Amino acid sequence: MLSPGAAGATETPFEFRLRNDHGYRLAVQPHARCRAFVCGVPAFTTGAEGHDWGGSVVVVVATDPIDELASLFLFLAETDFAGYSPLYENLARSVAADREMLGFIAGAASPNTRRGRIPVLFFAAVHDATLAVPDSDLAVIYRGDSDGDPHEALVRFVDEQQDLLTETMRTRSVQTNEVGRSAVLLPALVVAAAGRTSVALVEVGPSAGVNLYLDRYHITYERDGASLAEVGSPESPVHLRCSLRGDALPGLGPVPDVVTRSGIDLAPLDATDPRQRRWLNACIWPGQPQRTAALNAALDVVADGGPDLVRGDAVAGLAPRVSLVANDQFPVVVSTWALAYLSASEREDLLSQLDAIGAQRDLALITFEEPRFTPWIPAPDPADDQREGDGTLTALGLRTWRGGRVTSSLLGYAHPHGRWLRWLRPAVP
Ligand SMILES: C[S@@+](CC[C@H](N)C(=O)[O-])C[C@H]1O[C@@H](n2cnc3c(N)ncnc32)[C@H](O)[C@@H]1O
Repeated sequence: MLSPGAAGATETPFEFRLRNDHGYRLAVQPHARCRAFVCGVPAFTTGAEGHDWGGSVVVVVATDPIDELASLFLFLAETDFAGYSPLYENLARSVAADREMLGFIAGAASPNTRRGRIPVLFFAAVHDATLAVPDSDLAVIYRGDSDGDPHEALVRFVDEQQDLLTETMRTRSVQTNEVGRSAVLLPALVVAAAGRTSVALVEVGPSAGVNLYLDRYHITYERDGASLAEVGSPESPVHLRCSLRGDALPGLGPVPDVVTRSGIDLAPLDATDPRQRRWLNACIWPGQPQRTAALNAALDVVADGGPDLVRGDAVAGLAPRVSLVANDQFPVVVSTWALAYLSASEREDLLSQLDAIGAQRDLALITFEEPRFTPWIPAPDPADDQREGDGTLTALGLRTWRGGRVTSSLLGYAHPHGRWLRWLRPAVP
């Protein structure tokens, strides 16, 4: 057990406490003010206090919450934004150095969000406000129509729009519905169906539900910039591209018919509602017109299809949704970037509920999540050359229940938005 103040805390403005009952070690980079790494993963990405960490409780107490918030912005700048969103990388760095702005953000977000999520919530709230005030200087910069200084424009905009931003940050949460993930999910669905011609999809945390329509999109899989395979109708309004890495190629068909599309979300978004669509657009980063175009085309597909989305907590409501799937249908539960919002015990609870259902009927669970949120998927730390590229590494996992037999396998690693996929042959098909 490490005690408060151990592990070099005196070199930083923070105090770290770590209950080290699973052998986790805490290391502090000597010259970085705000970096704590647990098993090589930055602790601050999880939000700071009392965070469940795979069975151990990590407590990180910052003596200065503004410094801590600054570290979160810097972390995003270096990991998720670098090389992918130059505008947000630039702004995240400048916000991290602006204590007045950080003070406003910390106050505006409270008490809505876990601290680890404040920076992305702030960026989404600002983007949302620029969509509401399209002639503001910041909106013009966000659209790429001006090369003015984004930080100066942000400072002015935040000053003018404080009330709107505060209201948004207190009432909304980040619900990015990333249709690019469909390109990663599709080969997983082919494996999960295991030759069945039809499936019933049930999504955990679907947001508006764009990934429930993965079979309706035209997806081009590429390698080194050259097209390798295309799936779906070229007539689809949604066109996705996914770059394949590594040697193994995923099977891309036959794609089973999707007979029902349902989901449970704490706050399902309605693809037919202009205000909710604006929030979904705000969750996309500015300067990424392909993502915006794909999202809006996919929302039109969803609006046309009308998925069966219910409001509720997946821990209480997922099992009843799965039970609604007719006995002659094969339920495939899908979770993409949703399990992070559950505690470790809630994730365990969810899995045991699915285990109980799987003991009675055949079932599959596809997860596309950070590996630490799906501990049942054997996901060895990828070699450095598999970490290449941008974004938080995301594991594509499959758990199946067939005739009462349970199997879990890692299908691959991918970019969190599906820009690339490294397919790994499943241990058991
Ligand atoms: C980051 S979004 C991801 C949306 C979608 N899965 C995707 O990948 O595009 C996470 C979603 O999970 C939902 N969510 C969070 N906690 C939940 C819970 N306990 N039960 C159901 N949904 C939840 C949120 O409301 C949000 O819509």
